[in-house]
Order: sequence, then structure tokens, then C-alpha cells
Amino acid sequence: MENQLICPWWLGYTFILPIRKYQHDPGKILGPHIKAGMQVMDYGCAMGYFSIPLAQMTGPQGRVYCVDIQKKMLNQLKKRAVKYGVSDIIVPLQVGIDYYPVSLSERLDFVLLFAVVHEVSDKIRLFDDIYMMLRPGGKVLFAEPKGHVSLNDFKKTINIALNAGLKPTNEKPMRKGLSAFLVKN
Ligand SMILES: C[S@@+](CC[C@H](N)C(=O)[O-])C[C@H]1O[C@@H](n2cnc3c(N)ncnc32)[C@H](O)[C@@H]1O
Repeated sequence: MENQLICPWWLGYTFILPIRKYQHDPGKILGPHIKAGMQVMDYGCAMGYFSIPLAQMTGPQGRVYCVDIQKKMLNQLKKRAVKYGVSDIIVPLQVGIDYYPVSLSERLDFVLLFAVVHEVSDKIRLFDDIYMMLRPGGKVLFAEPKGHVSLNDFKKTINIALNAGLKPTNEKPMRKGLSAFLVKN
């Protein structure tokens, strides 16, 4: 498959600016779906804008697997996890373009794919792997940035997810933009 552009690591600092909360409030977007003790994956986590609140929501009985292709993103995430007191909950995992994680000891309850899938070259493999990692009933929040991804391309990617076995739900994760919930039945 074609090689997509990967967002440069230094741009990661802009994703964690507090002002972003006005557009993407983790409490509003994720709060209703994340419960204490859940096993969660933040795929394409960058410096952990969502990973830290996810870890605060799962609490010490939960796990947040934070996957990224760039070591510098994960290094910042690790520092921030210590700062926010959630380093025991966060598990940073570095992957390569042709390598996805997947020997987790437990199945996932929830996978966040926020503004990352358009950067992944092998989307078929990504969704196949995510399907495998989820427990039955597990949920995926898939969101893409409107400026980078057309509605048509978003729908094509949804089809890849459906072919992997995921099912759409009627819930809308966010009022604006391109987003969907998918579940493993
Ligand atoms: C635009 S950023 C979004 C970061 C984060 N999800 C957020 O909303 O703040 C995309 C992130 O995905 C990572 N990424 C790109 N391709 C990836 C891949 N194949 N596997 C894992 N992470 C990837 C990039 O390194 C970058 O940190």
C-alpha cells in the first residue's frame, strides 16, 4: 500500500496545548464510554493528549496501551505520564510502519483512533489487528480531521473496518467533524 505522510514529532507539542480542550474535550468525548478498570488502547497517541485523561478515567485497575510510530512522541508521553501520576497505568508501545503490536495479555474494551488512520499505510491490517485485540462488545472511536480527510475517504476507511468485522453504532462521538463508533459484536 502507499506510504502516507507521518505528522512530524515536533507538531506533537501543539496537540497537547490546553486550548484544544475547547474543540476536543476528553471528558465529553470519552467520559461516557470509559469506566474504571477498562483495558484501553490509544493508537497513534503522540504525546498523549487523550492518553493521560484515559488513564485518569480507567484508574489504577485499568491499562492504557499507548501506541505510536515515533519514539520522540512516546518519550514526551512518558514524561507527562509521570507528571500526572499515571505512569503505572500507561504502557507505551512503539511500532514500525509494517509492524503492529499485538501480544497483549488481555483483550481491549476500547480503542481510540483519533486523527491517525489517514497516516497509516496498511489500513486493512490495522483494522484486522484491532478486531483481534478487542473483546466481544469492545468499542472503537474512529475520528479523522476534516481538513486532511475527505468524507469519501472517511467512508472508504469505514468500509475497511466493516470488512474486518466491526459494526457501526447509531451513536455519534462528536457533533462536528468525521467520527464514528464501531463495535465488535
Ligand atoms: C495527527 S497525530 C494525532 C495524535 C493524537 N491521536 C491526538 O489526537 O492528539 C498522529 C499520530 O499518529 C502516529 N502514527 C502515524 N502512523 C502510525 C502508525 N502506522 N502506527 C502508529 N502510530 C502512527 C504519528 O506518529 C502521530 O503521533
